[in-house]
Amino acid sequence: MKKLLLSLMCLCSLGAHADEGMWTLYNLPNAIFEQMKQYGFQLPMDQLYQSDNAVKNAVINFGGYCSGVVVSPDGLVFTNHHCGFECIRSHSTVEHDYMLNGFIAKSYAEELPNEDLFVSFMVEQKDVTDSLNSLGLSSLPVEKVSDFVDSVENAWSKSIRQQDSTLRVEVKPFYEGNKYYLTTYRDFEDVRLVFSVPKSMGKFGGETDNWMWPRQTCDYSVFRIYADPKTNGPAKYSKDNVPYHPKSWAKVSMDGYKPGDFAMIMGYPGSTSRYLSSYGIKERHDAINAPRVQVRGVKQEIMLRHMRADEAVRIKYDSKYANSSNYWKNSIGMNKCIDSIGLIQQKQEFEMRLRQWQEETGYLKGQLDFDKMAELYQKRLALTRVRTLFTETFLAQDQLSARAWKSNWGMKVEGPEDQPKKQYIQFDDNSEEWDEATDKEMLAALLKNYRTQMTNADYLPAFYQTIDKKFHGDYTAYVNALYKKSQLMKNGKPIYVNKKSYQKDMGVQYGLDLTELLAKIGADRKQLSYDIAEQEKWLCAAKLRMEQDLPNYSDANFTMRMTYGQIGEYTLGGRPSGYYTTARSLWEKMQKADDNFEYFAEPVMHELLSAKDYGKYSDPLTGTLQLCFLSNNDITGGNSGSPIFNGKGELLGLAFDGNWDSLASDIFFDRQLARTINVDVRFMLYMMDRWGHADRLLKEIGVQ
Ligand code: ARG
Repeated sequence: MKKLLLSLMCLCSLGAHADEGMWTLYNLPNAIFEQMKQYGFQLPMDQLYQSDNAVKNAVINFGGYCSGVVVSPDGLVFTNHHCGFECIRSHSTVEHDYMLNGFIAKSYAEELPNEDLFVSFMVEQKDVTDSLNSLGLSSLPVEKVSDFVDSVENAWSKSIRQQDSTLRVEVKPFYEGNKYYLTTYRDFEDVRLVFSVPKSMGKFGGETDNWMWPRQTCDYSVFRIYADPKTNGPAKYSKDNVPYHPKSWAKVSMDGYKPGDFAMIMGYPGSTSRYLSSYGIKERHDAINAPRVQVRGVKQEIMLRHMRADEAVRIKYDSKYANSSNYWKNSIGMNKCIDSIGLIQQKQEFEMRLRQWQEETGYLKGQLDFDKMAELYQKRLALTRVRTLFTETFLAQDQLSARAWKSNWGMKVEGPEDQPKKQYIQFDDNSEEWDEATDKEMLAALLKNYRTQMTNADYLPAFYQTIDKKFHGDYTAYVNALYKKSQLMKNGKPIYVNKKSYQKDMGVQYGLDLTELLAKIGADRKQLSYDIAEQEKWLCAAKLRMEQDLPNYSDANFTMRMTYGQIGEYTLGGRPSGYYTTARSLWEKMQKADDNFEYFAEPVMHELLSAKDYGKYSDPLTGTLQLCFLSNNDITGGNSGSPIFNGKGELLGLAFDGNWDSLASDIFFDRQLARTINVDVRFMLYMMDRWGHADRLLKEIGVQ
């Protein structure tokens, strides 16, 4: 412990802090656990990961993109509203608009199944670096590593499935590929929607407040895991499945929190780049974030205009818009932070020190080479910008592009094997997912924008010649012709893939041109990317060696992590942020709905929020209903829906966002400013009770 504190005191600004870090649990460093206890964690070590009722057993990966927590003996799950968003949307129609009005299943029978949704429980995790090395990993060139790891993963998967068919294993690189861990999961595929607040509450503040504090968003939705009636294990959807009975689940705390209280979050952070070199940060800034913001800006303006003009379009594009805008705003904020903190320069200074240390020690001499890394990144910068522009412009934005890609990749070809002329593909009517006027306008604008942004003609898809020659540069005319003439847009009709008409089809040609260019971009970046990955791996290894007295965590990679810290505000420009928001502050924002439609809330909310007394949902300390609160935990995208626990492992709420002032935290965790925004479980339960009258669920959770 003493050693840890000492090392912390002499830490450089880019080193790990005690409450920075996304820790894997099975090998949690003792020093970290000691620090957690000092902060107020009260459970023994084995209650985190090992024992039957370990806290981690209630934490799930929700759908492969979010996190969640099991809160009842009947498999009830809390996750964020924005994680359940697409499920809620897909059940919504103009007549039954669950997105707009919320949804309450009054019985098991009313709970709604969701195709393709799954949740995963982590069973265990272990370090397999040595096993992989003994199988030959350490002698492989970097471009062979991923295929090799995949093949070993397949073999291990097979063998574990023979022992237990409900298990799945995954082998992933940690510490930039300096280590490999194997994680075993159990997936459940029958997950049903149980409850959602109206969108006005679940997404209160919308894009205006997204990534911002103070916040009043009631960002949660409720699902239930269903299991095989005989085994209580995973099963494909069947109406005969029954609620899953977990061995343990998270208990809700009604006690609240105060500044300085211990807070722990467990979940599935997706991706961070804390070890990334200064050159990598520059690439992220100039060639990923900036062009992403540019292209999405064009697209979003069009989507929003159409959505606001027509309710049916709004339902169709709700998720698409939210997804796009989420990382549009994040990229803006991240670049702002990178600039204002002077992050690239800070990293450069750190690299100078590392370089000096390397010269003194000779560590990785002849391998880690800063000049080479600079040169490699310099060469890749323009190519990365091309890739971002290309993917943001052409990857499944509009229906025609989506179908053009599909027809090239992975669509099932029907028809007799021995008669090529009769082989065909077919698109079903999916008009509930998209709107023709919106998609056409979007594609025309994107095509035009790509031409303006893309200064290197080598990276223009071949169809730009058609646009120029046949359509005299008129993008709208070209798009109209595509939508009108291409067979890809004819629903329910066989499209014969081996007939001449197929090769001549405008849409098919459009797809081929895109595929060709994507392959070229990939090929042009390939060797550079391998070489850069190798340098980054060595850079990480050198940092770990130079700071070997410090516990170091690996970058996020969609495996389960724990982050611990405390409840508390931050101070910016001398102004304290406050650490919680109240019903009153929500009510006040709602009064501004005329100026900003994202502050609209249903009349019933005005009534509910005028209450003097919130009963058992009030905070014992402040006597009011608290909505959202801040903690200094270290989270990122993918953590959405993660449970936040108090020192006894009880549920305080769900993490759902980060704050604007620390949006560079995926690259650099700023201890002074980085905060997690959580929704208070008492606000969630209050809405369940007073808005939803969902007594059956409250009873199940043990609140009534
Ligand atoms: N920024 C949050 C996240 O990435 C919330 C996103 C959903 N909300 C929104 N207004 N788009 O998890």
